[in-house]
This record gives sequence, structure tokens and C-alpha cells, in this order.
Amino acid sequence: LGQTLEYHEQVESTQDIAHMRARENAPEGYLIVTDSQLKGRGRLQRRFQSENKNGGWFSFILRPDIPPLHAQKLTLITAIALIRTIKQKTTLQPQIKWPNDVLINGRKLAGILTEMQAEQDRIHYMVIGVGININHRPDEFSDDIKDKVTSLLIETGDHFKRRHFIQDFLKNFEALYEAFLKEGFLTFKEEWEQSAFRLGEELTYKKNKQTFSGTFIGIHEDGALVVEKDGIKDYLYSAEIDWF
Ligand code: BTN
Repeated sequence: LGQTLEYHEQVESTQDIAHMRARENAPEGYLIVTDSQLKGRGRLQRRFQSENKNGGWFSFILRPDIPPLHAQKLTLITAIALIRTIKQKTTLQPQIKWPNDVLINGRKLAGILTEMQAEQDRIHYMVIGVGININHRPDEFSDDIKDKVTSLLIETGDHFKRRHFIQDFLKNFEALYEAFLKEGFLTFKEEWEQSAFRLGEELTYKKNKQTFSGTFIGIHEDGALVVEKDGIKDYLYSAEIDWF
């Protein structure tokens, strides 16, 4: 992965460029990196702040031969790759907030955006986007998010080379991806759960506009979050969970 790399000083979103290149038949692993994004986007059409030049903002193309229904597991694999990379470089205890955020001490450090083009039973391609706050200082976040986010510099006091972080992440991702394609997600379930934010705690969530609660007991092999109440399990896919 990342053998072919496209770097831009500034773009609207690396996701858009990745989609464009994928449609032009760019190979698996094709990587787009930028210093700054004017229209970074997150899940659920949210904006993702990434104008700042101190982050790792990148997207890469995958062409996995798996059913589209399994694609979201790659978000979980990406989160594990981020956790491994952060642990190799620091003594921090990063956590995964299901399905796609990485937190440190309850604050968001990184986000993952997984998008795909598929038809019925075949994936044309996937684009995985990662945004990680690396060398931001506290005053570099806007007022509306500054209490909810953090960076590697804020947490450790150390400055990290962004390029090295991305390279090391890709190395970790590649190993996980190969094993995932061979063995499926089950091999990584335990590792994922070890880093899960609020595992074992009571969560409240909404389904069809009704509010429920249950103990967060783990992740299902298919990527669903599992809660349990009075011995009955519930599987959450994209339900809105009240995390804080
Ligand atoms: C989220 O927090 O919901 C996901 C954030 C994903 C951000 C990354 S930054 C690189 C890539 N380009 C984007 O526009 N988004 C992703």
C-alpha cells in the first residue's frame, strides 16, 4: 500500500480525489495525502476540521474481493491499525469509539471514513480516509470543538513526523488487511475489544425513535455493537448511541 502516492499542498477533500482516481482504475493501495483540506468530511455528512497543517489527512483505495456487506469491517481493521501505530510510538492508551473514532482520554484524536462503490454482491472499490490530529497545539482547534478533541502533541508533548506516522500506519494496516482477507474479522475481535471505549458500561441508544439501554458487551463478528439487557442481546448497526 502507498507505493503510488499523490501529494497535494491543499485540497477540498482527499476522499474526492481518491474516488476520482479509483474510477480511473488506480490500483489497490493508491494513496492521496495532503497538508490541508478545505472541505474535509466525516461520517453522516459531518464536517471534519482539517485545514490545519499539523494533521495526517489521507485517503487510500482498496479493491477487496469481499461481499459489500462485510465492507464496514474494514473500518474496524483501520481503527486497530491506528491503535497499533499510536501504541508503537507512544505510551498512550488510545481507545476506539465504535465504529470509527479513536479517542485519547475521552477526546477525539482521529476519525475514519469508509466509503465504497458496489453493486449487489461485488465491491468496485473502497476509499478509506483517515484524519489524525498529530502536531496541533490546543489553540489550533476552533472553540466549538476544542474541549472534545486532542492531538498526539497535546497528549505526549512530543512532535511527530507526519510522513513517518502515515508510513507506519500503512505498514500496520497492510499486515492486518492481508490477515483479515484470509481469516476474517474474528481473529481481531479480541484486540478490538481490548481498546473499546466504554466496553462493559451501560449505554443508551435510540432505535426507531425509542430510547433503550443495555450493557455494552462486545463487538459481533459482523461488526455490530452488542448490548445486553436482562440476558437479551441487541445488535446495533448504525443506531445513534449516546456516548457521553
Ligand atoms: C469522522 O470523524 O467521521 C471521519 C473523519 C475522516 C476524515 C478524513 S481526513 C482524510 C479524508 N478526507 C476527508 O474529507 N475525510 C477523510
